[in-house]
Amino acid sequence: MKKILVTGGCGYIGAHTIIDLIENGFEVISADDLSRGYLRMLEGVEKITGKSVKNYKINLCDIEDTEALFIENPGITGIIHFAAFKSVPESVEQPLKYFRNNINSLVNVLQCAQEHHINHFVFSSSCSVYGNPKELPVVETTPFTEPESPYARTKQMGEAICRDFARQLRKFNVTLLRYFNPVGAHPSALIGELQEKPENLVPMITQTAIGKRREMQVFGNDYDTRDGSCVRDYVHVMDIANAHTKALQNMLDGKNSNKCEIFNLGTGNGVTVLELIEAFEKASGEKLNYKIGPRRPGDVVAVYANNNKAHDQLSWSPQYDLHQMMDTAWRWELTMKKEAEKIQLN
Ligand code: WQD
Repeated sequence: MKKILVTGGCGYIGAHTIIDLIENGFEVISADDLSRGYLRMLEGVEKITGKSVKNYKINLCDIEDTEALFIENPGITGIIHFAAFKSVPESVEQPLKYFRNNINSLVNVLQCAQEHHINHFVFSSSCSVYGNPKELPVVETTPFTEPESPYARTKQMGEAICRDFARQLRKFNVTLLRYFNPVGAHPSALIGELQEKPENLVPMITQTAIGKRREMQVFGNDYDTRDGSCVRDYVHVMDIANAHTKALQNMLDGKNSNKCEIFNLGTGNGVTVLELIEAFEKASGEKLNYKIGPRRPGDVVAVYANNNKAHDQLSWSPQYDLHQMMDTAWRWELTMKKEAEKIQLN
């Protein structure tokens, strides 16, 4: 069984990806310092797959601790690198924290990959590398524009570091996966997105609908879009997860046509904020309490993917539609409410 290291394995996309890897026959270990992740995510993975996944609680910015993990785990065949800070507003307030964490951790993991002859690397990138793209839908060769935040800058830099590293190391292959807007939860509702102080739209919607928040704001409805609200490409987290397994297998099978491959992971459908809210209300049966507020600085007006390359080269196609994205997100929120009530009763 091929052993895969997933960094950031206790995070939202990391944990969902571990499920897909296990279901596709991989052995998985996780490295996560739990600064943003939660061990309960791996508890959910075990309930769903029956497999217990070991997490190494280490700071990947510490080279000694990182190297110790690789020495303790010989035979790692591939690495999927999620571990990074990802809050856009926090990165604006503390850019150096983001550069130090997101870049140093990447460099350390790449150094260990080189020392331990691990030649298959998947890097968690983001549609935010495109900034405010001039052409839509964006293809992988769409030129970058100025990123909206230091977070997005670290993703642009991370891609460049991976590309240079692949060019330098003869056998090393890297795949850069540019996520659009991952949403939803595993259909079992046993794991999902944990955001105590949500910034992203869907956790904000579900927390408002469940009553954790009194109301939410739509950040602007005066944009040049079909209903005035921003357009995004929402994609189910399990579809994102499956793309990682496919990208890894593509390299293991030697089918990557380039030592540094790039794929957009979106559905190709642009959906406005107001349309997403409507889809949520239909899926949940709940009326959402929201009001139209001012625009949020740094917001991209519209971005959505051309995903033909992932479809053609990875045989990847999103399986979950908008209704299922909203239904699973809502059922996960209901699960969290029941768990909170159970704790109160005990
Ligand atoms: C989506 C839309 C908001 C909250 C995210 C991540 C970024 C990257 C891409 C990983 C925007 C609107 C939101 C609210 C709202 N992911 N909104 N009211 O900004 O596209 O970026 O996905 O790499 O890290 O942050 O996602 O969910 O924050 O916003 O109206 O309370 O929802 O204005 O138009 P975004 P988001």
